[in-house]
Amino acid sequence: MPWNPVQYHKFQTERSAPFFDLLKLVHVRPNLHVVDLGCGTGELTLQLSNALPNSTVTGIDSSLEMLKKAKQHAGPKLHFKHGNQTKLSSIWDLIFSNAALQWSENHQELIPALFKKLKPEGQLAVQVPSNHLHISHQLIRETAKEEPFYSALKGFNRQSPVLSIEEYTEILYQCGAQQIVVFEKVYPHVLEDAEAVLQWIMGTALVPYLEKLDEHKEDFIEVIRKKLEAAIPGSPVLYPFKRIFLSAVNGK
Ligand SMILES: C[S@@+](CC[C@H](N)C(=O)[O-])C[C@H]1O[C@@H](n2cnc3c(N)ncnc32)[C@H](O)[C@@H]1O
Repeated sequence: MPWNPVQYHKFQTERSAPFFDLLKLVHVRPNLHVVDLGCGTGELTLQLSNALPNSTVTGIDSSLEMLKKAKQHAGPKLHFKHGNQTKLSSIWDLIFSNAALQWSENHQELIPALFKKLKPEGQLAVQVPSNHLHISHQLIRETAKEEPFYSALKGFNRQSPVLSIEEYTEILYQCGAQQIVVFEKVYPHVLEDAEAVLQWIMGTALVPYLEKLDEHKEDFIEVIRKKLEAAIPGSPVLYPFKRIFLSAVNGK
């Protein structure tokens, strides 16, 4: 998927707040072997590395565009590698992932598969957006069903793989996890107007659609722009953004 680091960074302050909430859940110990799945442009992986004394941190991402930026932050104890978060090798003291696992399907299998990659006493710490019922996401799915977009997308329409907090809790319990913490938090972002909401989703939720739309890309954006202006008029606008946090320890 062609990620655009510039578009993604337009709301860097708002996007980094949940990272720091996730970081608060991490059990800080020295000398950890850590992976950051879907590390993106690496600034936050650097913050993670700085928070963990004498630990080695590896950021993994499937986007070469994002990794190119991330590699500028590499150091003796901070590495970046091209890879798929669903095919993690090695075992880890901390598997960390901020705003990335929502891009991989089947969390019923993914979360246990990641949990198996923890050392004894190792920790899984994950944050995923759970905003898929917000009007901005509903309008994307609705517009993708309209022509000419439906044909251009060959019927593609993305359903979020993100589960409920109860389901994540159950999955972690079935893994034999200890010290389970699962919660959902709403971030009440106040943005300038509907256009700002559009710019936000252009950095994330719209990405898999825009890459498939070729010459219909600008029209697709324009239709969603008009619908968003009607749905969230005025200035400023509230963009309540829900996110799910998971933390659990491998007690085995
Ligand atoms: C929304 S960004 C989050 C980046 C960073 N963790 C942060 O908090 O700013 C999601 C990242 O996940 C990466 N990603 C998506 N699917 C992936 C996969 N299957 N394996 C590895 N990385 C993936 C994308 O390339 C992108 O850089």
